[in-house]
Amino acid sequence: MRTIIEPFRIKSVEPIRMTSPPERRKILADAGCNLFRVRAEDVIVDLLTDSGVAAMSAEQWAALMRGDESYAGSASFSRFEAAVKRLMPFKHIIPTHQGRAAEAILFALLGGAGKIIPSNTHFDTTRANVEATGARAADLLCQDADNMSSDAPFKGDMDVERLHALLVQDGAKVPCVMMTITNNAGGGQPASLANIRRVAAFAHEFDKPFIIDGCRFAENAWFIKEREHGQSGRTIVEIVNDIFACADGMTMSAKKDAFANIGGWLALNDDELAQKARTRLILTEGFPTYGGLAGRDLDAIAQGLSEIVDEDYLRYRVRVNEYVLERLIEEGVPVVRPAGGHAVFLDAGAMLPHILPLQYPGQALAAALYEEGGVRGCEIGSVMFGLQPDGAEKPARSELVRLAMPRRVYTQSHADYVVETILAVFEKRAALRGMRIVRQPQMLRHFTAEFAPL
Ligand code: F0G
Repeated sequence: MRTIIEPFRIKSVEPIRMTSPPERRKILADAGCNLFRVRAEDVIVDLLTDSGVAAMSAEQWAALMRGDESYAGSASFSRFEAAVKRLMPFKHIIPTHQGRAAEAILFALLGGAGKIIPSNTHFDTTRANVEATGARAADLLCQDADNMSSDAPFKGDMDVERLHALLVQDGAKVPCVMMTITNNAGGGQPASLANIRRVAAFAHEFDKPFIIDGCRFAENAWFIKEREHGQSGRTIVEIVNDIFACADGMTMSAKKDAFANIGGWLALNDDELAQKARTRLILTEGFPTYGGLAGRDLDAIAQGLSEIVDEDYLRYRVRVNEYVLERLIEEGVPVVRPAGGHAVFLDAGAMLPHILPLQYPGQALAAALYEEGGVRGCEIGSVMFGLQPDGAEKPARSELVRLAMPRRVYTQSHADYVVETILAVFEKRAALRGMRIVRQPQMLRHFTAEFAPL
C-alpha cells in the first residue's frame, strides 16, 4: 500500500481545547510572546518538543505496575540495565532523572576552565553544562549542513578535518570528543556510521574518550539503514550496536528515543570514571540503581527501548515529517532539507529577510504560528544561542523554528492542520515584525525571556 499509516490504535484520548485567534493574541501578550510561558491547555497542536511527551504503549503502562520500588538492587533496575545493554553494550549504566543530569555529572568530571569539548553540535543543555564548568563547547559540524536547501543525506556529520586539526593543535585541552545523534540543533539531521567511526578513530588516536549523546539513536539508525551504502539489509538493533560499539560512553535522555515521560542515563566503560560518576550521582540524583527515578520509570524505559527499534514505527515516524516538508516545499516555504527525524525546521531567516537576526525572526515566526492556528513550536536561533557566556550578543548560525513531533501522539489530520497554519502565516509573512527582549536571565534565556513586538 502507498499510504504509511500510524502503526497503532488509540485506546485513551486527551481532549484538545479549541481557542480563537483573538483569544490567542491575548494569551501571547500575557506570556511576553514566549511560548514556553503559555499554558499547555491553551495550545491546539503542541510541537514545542518531542521530549517526554510520547504516548506510552499499553505494554509500558502495564510495565509501570511491575515497577519494583526497592531502594537498592531493584528488579526494575535489572530490567532497565539489560534493555540498555542489549542496544548499547557499555559496562556501566548509570540511571539519571533526565539527559541533562547525565551531562552535568559527566562534565563535572571532565570539564573545567580552559578545556575544549568538541561535538558536531552541542544541544543547548549540553552546551550550558559544558560552559557552566568554564570549558568551551566547540561545534564542528560538516560543511554540507551550511546549505539548508540541499538534500545531503548526513548533514549531522562531524567535520573530521576540523576535529583532527583541533586535536593536533589543542589536544591537551580536550578531555573527550562528543557527538550528538541525531543533530537536534542542526535540524534533526543524522550522522552516518562511517562518520561516527572516523570520529571515534580520531578520538582514540589521541587517547580521548568518545562520548555519544544518543537521544535520538533509533531515528539516526533508521536514516543509516535507509541512506548509507551497505546498511539497508541490516536490522536497526545491529546498526545501533555498531554505533555504540565504537564509543566509550554515552549520555541519554529517555524522554526521546525510549518513549518515556522522564528518565535518562550516563553509560561508561571506564571503571574509575564510572565510580566517580556514581559518587556524584549519589550526591545529586540518588542511589546507583535508581538514580533519581522511580522503579516504575525504569520499567517504562526498558519496555520503550524494545518498541523504539520497530521498523514499522520508524518508517511512519520519519514519513510524517517528510509529508509535512513535501507540502511546504511545494508552496515555496523555506525549510531545512531533508526532513529531520523528530521535527520539521522552518528557515525563519530566509522567510523573514526583513527581520534582522537580533530582532529574532524565529521568535516572530513562532509567535505568528501560535496566533494563527494555536500551533506551538520553538525558536532555535539567536534567542536560544545568541547570548554569549560574557553577556554579549551574537547572531546564531541560523534562525530556525522547530516543529517537533511528539512520538505516537498526533495523527495525519493534525499534520494537515499544521501545514495549513504554516501556509496561512507564510501568506502574511511581509507583515510580520521583529521582537525585542524586555527581560532575560543570564543563561538559557529562551525558556523564560519576555519579548515585545517591535
Ligand atoms: N541532548 C539532546 C540532543 C537533546 O535534544 C536534549 C533535550 C538533551 C540532550 C537533554 O535531555 O531534556 O532529558 O535533560 N532536548 C529537548 C528538546 C529538551 O526539546 O529538544 P533532557
